[in-house]
Amino acid sequence: MAGRSFSMTPRAVPKVRTKYRRIVTKIPAPSTIPVLKELRDYEPISMTGQPPILWDHAEGVQVYDNAGNMWLDWSSGVLVTGAGHGRKEIIDAICAQAKKKLLHNYCFPSAERAKLVHRLVEISPKKFAKAFLLTTGAETTECAIKLMRTHGIKVGGRKKIGIVSFERAFHGRTMGSQQIGGSAAGKDWIVNLDKDIFQVPFPDGFWNEDTSFDSFLKSLKKQGRSPANIAGVILETYQGHGASFAPKAYMQKLSKWCAKHKIVLTCDEVQAGFGRTGKLFGFEHYGIVPDLACFGKGISSSLPISAILGRKDLMDLYPPGSMTSTHTGSPIPAAATLANIDIVMKEKLWLNAAKVGAVMEKEFLKLQKRFPSRIGSVQGKGLVFGLHMTNGHKKADFDLAFRVVERCIEKGLLMFAPVGACTIKICPPLITNKEQALDGCKILEEALVEVLAEGA
Ligand SMILES: Cc1ncc(COP(=O)(O)O)c(C=O)c1O
Repeated sequence: MAGRSFSMTPRAVPKVRTKYRRIVTKIPAPSTIPVLKELRDYEPISMTGQPPILWDHAEGVQVYDNAGNMWLDWSSGVLVTGAGHGRKEIIDAICAQAKKKLLHNYCFPSAERAKLVHRLVEISPKKFAKAFLLTTGAETTECAIKLMRTHGIKVGGRKKIGIVSFERAFHGRTMGSQQIGGSAAGKDWIVNLDKDIFQVPFPDGFWNEDTSFDSFLKSLKKQGRSPANIAGVILETYQGHGASFAPKAYMQKLSKWCAKHKIVLTCDEVQAGFGRTGKLFGFEHYGIVPDLACFGKGISSSLPISAILGRKDLMDLYPPGSMTSTHTGSPIPAAATLANIDIVMKEKLWLNAAKVGAVMEKEFLKLQKRFPSRIGSVQGKGLVFGLHMTNGHKKADFDLAFRVVERCIEKGLLMFAPVGACTIKICPPLITNKEQALDGCKILEEALVEVLAEGA
């Protein structure tokens, strides 16, 4: 639930000096207030949603301000720094590329872009024959909408343009990506929504207990939709708002149904890709390969870059010059991404995510057992979790989630603001080890116990 800011008034908190965390000032640190104020004065209010700690530098699994405080990171920025913050290999690649004196080349050919699209296709399932580089995640989901519809028109005429997405979905904040999003509030401003973009329930198993594929078909029927009018289905490989996965059987049936009806299936892997879920690609959990996949965030562990990959016939739908972007494969982000992919592949970061994630999940489930009415659901895989905070059976409690995050920050555990209606999202860098993970779990428990004792 958007709309709540953290307090900017420095608050005295107990000092912390441990191996992974250091809190030595009031929070927010008084000396950082002028910069925080400058941001509040000159940026839109919409930018004030995150905890007011000033990021000065970040390395490995830790983030530092310039007032002597150090946080153990459970945010990875926003699921970006999978390989850890400030990886030397990535910094070296960025510096080398800058020194080579190629900072920009638009769609003119470059070796950097060639190497990156080749590498992306090489590490992907065979079905993905081509890669198109963009800058943000939202651009990739916009591009997916365009390709799904274009394909629908090609194979089924101008009536085959429907795009199915999911309730509670998030695919970005541009016009098309918000329309495929599952938040009514998020797209209220559009007013005249495209009637051929519509949502069905997401089978997360907690908020929506019907996880059968039949529920998908029933929802289409109820909305008067038929496969002949549907061009594509797009879904997050796991839903970001709650780290919620669909059942494997559901996804396999969905994939078969799409293929049968010449409907393009797109997995939005912007969060899930590059090891986050304990597999290199999140869709591997389902034993499927979609027709298109969108990537961003953890693709570079650093600089802004994104990519859409997919079937050759889909990726080649547009003639020369008509599906391009000013910064496609920008050389420095491309170099950073190549270095990141080398790290992910060499260190098999998804394996560490699976191993350490299993340790964390056990701790979260123990905590849920202790507070069953306050942690309604623990969802996630690998190193991404959503703790759905409640106050009674399925009664979302945003205030509890917010206060726990705030308390964790004060104790040196960094998380971003709760997402959705009540979810504490946990997504440490994929290099996090067991000791670091358990340290964070202990702090989360302390924070929850304290906040509940204070009457939350
Ligand atoms: C699943 C998913 N898709 C798309 C996006 C949009 O990415 P960006 O913010 O880079 O536009 C996000 C961002 O959080 C996301 O989580």
